[in-house]
Amino acid sequence: MSFLDKHKKLERNLSLLFVGSLLAVLVGGIVEIAPLFYVKNTIEKVEGMRPYTPLELAGRNVYIREGCYLCHSQMIRPFRDEVERYGAYSLAAESMYDHPFQWGSKRTGPDLARVGGRYSDEWHVQHLKDPRSVVPESIMPPYSFLANTPLNTENFGAHLQANAMVGVPYNAEMIENAVLDMQAQADPEADTDGLESRYSNIRIRDFDGQPGQLTEMDALVAYLQMLGTLVDRKAYEQNENLR
Ligand code: HEC
Repeated sequence: MSFLDKHKKLERNLSLLFVGSLLAVLVGGIVEIAPLFYVKNTIEKVEGMRPYTPLELAGRNVYIREGCYLCHSQMIRPFRDEVERYGAYSLAAESMYDHPFQWGSKRTGPDLARVGGRYSDEWHVQHLKDPRSVVPESIMPPYSFLANTPLNTENFGAHLQANAMVGVPYNAEMIENAVLDMQAQADPEADTDGLESRYSNIRIRDFDGQPGQLTEMDALVAYLQMLGTLVDRKAYEQNENLR
């Protein structure tokens, strides 16, 4: 029997076709689903990754709410053109605490995975208030209202707890201190010993240039200034071509 004949038989026998389709779907399903059980093993551990501070997490929420991801990706691919433009390529572990992740290839604006530390806080505030005042040809919309919008800190511990439920290692102490930590990170006068012991490599300062006010601008700039700064890159940059 030729292949065509065999196929004809399969197509015309309802039960055979059903069993065949079921098998195909089953194999496809297993191939897609099984790796999810091993996600923990497939993400290579890197030094420096820590959960976001409450203020950074709040800034991330603003980033998602405002749809910044519609124009900006946070994923530098291991290609020379990307690495030369944006910096070292992204590692899986750098997104391990992202729910949801911010990967993508739709870039109306530049990739932001390594934007932390590239500009001053003042630059970010000015750029977010009025992008064309610093980049005349920019088509980015202005977000000046963020500087006048008080940051909602209410019950933020619950937000950390929700992240903990999906695997972000926030412990009881972090959850309990979430609101205080959020205020302290934007207040250079605050007692920040506890905050610094809970979160390594953290920037503590008044991000929005309005001392005494905790705004959504503080949170968003704190988040942007952290992006790409957590992992100690030197250990992972043996490949000269990719820096
Ligand atoms: C309509 C598309 C669009 C949206 C939405 C958008 N941006 Fe942009 N963004 C751009 C473009 C285009 C540029 C490049 C020109 C410039 O620097 O303004 C840019 C530049 C930037 C830069 C500077 C990056 C660099 O490396 O120079 C940052 C930071 C940034 N955007 C943050 C944000 C944040 C935060 C939001 C959400 C509050 C946002 N953007 C929303 C289009 C957008």
